[in-house]
Amino acid sequence: MQKKPTTVVLIITGGIAAYRALELIRLLRKEGFRVRPVLTKGARAFITPLSAAALAGEKAHAELFSLTDETEMGHIRLAREADAVVVAPATADFMAKAAHGLADDLASTLLLATTAPVLMAPAMNPRMWTHPATRRNTAQLRADGVEIIGPESGEVACGEEGEGRMAEPAEILARVLALIQGRSAELPLSGKRVLITAGPTHEPIDPVRVLANRSSGRMGYALAEAAREKGAEVVLVSGPVALSAPAGVDVRRVETAEEMLRAVRQALAEAPVDIGIFTAAVADWRVKNASASKIKKGPEGPPVLELEENPDILATIAQARAGRPKLVVGFAAETENIARNARAKLKRKGADIIVANDVSEKTGILGGDETELLVISRTGEETRLPRQSKRAAARALLDLLSRHP
Ligand code: CTP
Repeated sequence: MQKKPTTVVLIITGGIAAYRALELIRLLRKEGFRVRPVLTKGARAFITPLSAAALAGEKAHAELFSLTDETEMGHIRLAREADAVVVAPATADFMAKAAHGLADDLASTLLLATTAPVLMAPAMNPRMWTHPATRRNTAQLRADGVEIIGPESGEVACGEEGEGRMAEPAEILARVLALIQGRSAELPLSGKRVLITAGPTHEPIDPVRVLANRSSGRMGYALAEAAREKGAEVVLVSGPVALSAPAGVDVRRVETAEEMLRAVRQALAEAPVDIGIFTAAVADWRVKNASASKIKKGPEGPPVLELEENPDILATIAQARAGRPKLVVGFAAETENIARNARAKLKRKGADIIVANDVSEKTGILGGDETELLVISRTGEETRLPRQSKRAAARALLDLLSRHP
């Protein structure tokens, strides 16, 4: 008997990113999925049902009360057939409707009628994305079990910079695969607990000023998201960053290195950790004579800051007798002699694995969207992960870690 193809119902809503949904159809088909496109009225202002149908090799659905479709109860059939429903791009308007359970067209109706997992890839103007109404709707959708991927930061169609770009079609495909697998098979990190540190730390000089660094936190957040996708329970201890919490991840926000160490210890004390990944760019020093009140300009000239060393979180945890994660993974940000310095760091800190990256300015890795990693284990194996988006690198790294004995 021929196996029934896995069906993805792809709802395309009206935004300039709609054309990128066509690429997603192509990728889903290549992966062997049956794709049933549904276009909202808004989407049809950007792309035609014909182009979606041509790529999907299926009729593209558009109307709720189309006579031929409704003889077969189109929305109910689509909702039932779906092994996953993907909304890409998801506009602010469509998310608002879905968050409130409105059902006034085919797309919103089938969303209410389905029991399949739902993944939304928001795409909108960055200010619309950060608007409290959108935040509220996104939180509601998450609480209802909808998975959200992206949006990513970068330039959006209206020329503004910020979070608002639809996630890459390849990233959406990866998430669809995880969603569908998650229902049918064990994921590589199911039952595992993963602890991740991310972002910079801020060390106060006085109540309004801090010592900080340029870490964006992206690598740690990408790892948290990927670990969650792969089935892990994830605690993310994060310094101050401008990123939103990945879905399903327990985020604990801290400011200073000392707070970060405390939060890490707390997470370790709550339950054993299988993999600890230390990506945070922890400040090496804090201000010893930090002022309790704002330092004022005065005739005595600029203040002299005395620094003292911060705890090394990775080394402290890697060398702890009790409560050490089974696998301790550090990151090494280097600008020269990458491999040699990283190997030395691995030994010095007592980690099991060190992940080295070249953060010299020419690479654009620090604070950027892409990275290239060299994974070195205590036993001497070295694996190079080529330059790719931080999200893709995170997934590749977790695949390696999940296979680590
Ligand atoms: N790290 C940490 N706590 C610190 C400093 C670093 O947990 N106080 C961790 C980082 O999260 C990373 C690893 O140690 O996993 C290496 O960080 P890096 O800044 O490259 O190393 P440093 O120890 O600061 O060494 P150096 O500045 O001499 O390169």
